[in-house]
Amino acid sequence: MDISLLSQTDSEIGVIGLGLMGSSIITSLLISGYHVKAIAPIRNEAESGKSRIKELLAICVQSGLIENEETYLSKLTISENYADLSNCLLALECVIEQIEIKKNVYHQIAQHIHPEAVIASNTSAIPISVLQEFAPNPARFMGIHWAEPAYSTRFLEITCGDKTDVAKAEVVYQAAHAWGKEPTLLRKDIRGFITNRLMYAVYREGLDLIESGEAKKEDADKAFKYDVGSWITYKGIFKRMGYEGLKNKAVIIQNLLPDLSQIVHVPKIMEEIVEQKGRGIYNQIGLYKYTADDCKVWEKEFADFIDDISRLAAKFPVNKRLE
Ligand SMILES: NC(=O)c1ccc[n+]([C@@H]2O[C@H](COP(=O)([O-])OP(=O)(O)OC[C@H]3O[C@@H](n4cnc5c(N)ncnc54)[C@H](O)[C@@H]3O)[C@@H](O)[C@H]2O)c1
Repeated sequence: MDISLLSQTDSEIGVIGLGLMGSSIITSLLISGYHVKAIAPIRNEAESGKSRIKELLAICVQSGLIENEETYLSKLTISENYADLSNCLLALECVIEQIEIKKNVYHQIAQHIHPEAVIASNTSAIPISVLQEFAPNPARFMGIHWAEPAYSTRFLEITCGDKTDVAKAEVVYQAAHAWGKEPTLLRKDIRGFITNRLMYAVYREGLDLIESGEAKKEDADKAFKYDVGSWITYKGIFKRMGYEGLKNKAVIIQNLLPDLSQIVHVPKIMEEIVEQKGRGIYNQIGLYKYTADDCKVWEKEFADFIDDISRLAAKFPVNKRLE
């Protein structure tokens, strides 16, 4: 099996798990032209998963990413049978964030997948070096971390574990361009990968500001949306930092860093939502109050927004040339 064929959009990729991300990743691969073998690891998920994928493909039609759903649906097979993975160049595990459950899924994948195929996890936070110990061949195991909605965001983070063959990760990195992504490759396993390390530094400061009563969440959100939000897609962090010179920023770092939050506990405001089993738009329990109808509108608007912002960024080629 030649995994460099992953760059060819008519090859076969398996996705295990049909939850929020699994169905969104399947949609992304389908609209890129791939044949997808979806495995429903729990009973009766095949039907609900298929309905969700149909809904997502309909959103893709509405936003002009594809012309019709049928062509893409015909390339999808959903079953509870891991044997369907036998011709897949890549199996993407996208099940609940619990090590024991992921371990069991790798065991099932291992019984059917080609020995030279790649197995990857969409985990957000479990170290790849831990998960790869449960894979049939750790050298062919890596993290492939997507962002929601996976079919329209450009983000994709590929992470090697201690035993991953970096050359294999580079092949996947190349192929990810055919999935419509701007991938990053982390050659060494660090906790939280790149994106969660950055984002959780911001969450920590934001949550501490809210919990201490120094700012309201609405104001923190406004500040982030209308300041950072106005330039981040164009410049990223370091292009912005270097753009105006670093002299003043060095002074600010010296003065401000000692004042920033150092908390290492889960803030109370988060604990309360966790206790209420908050699942955001899925059960309308989150940091803001909203109705089921609001959620539907948000989901659609957000998908349109991501699509628009990707197109907007693509209009500025100097931005890309400097990467
Ligand atoms: N939600 C996000 O925005 C996001 C972003 C990046 C990465 N991830 C990661 O993706 C993975 C899936 O997250 P999600 O948000 O799609 O979760 P989800 O709760 O929507 O779906 C989880 C899926 O896990 C499977 N599952 C549940 N119980 C199982 C069991 N006992 N045995 C086998 N499979 C079982 C099912 O297919 C279920 O649909 C997690 O590792 C998560 O950390 C999520």
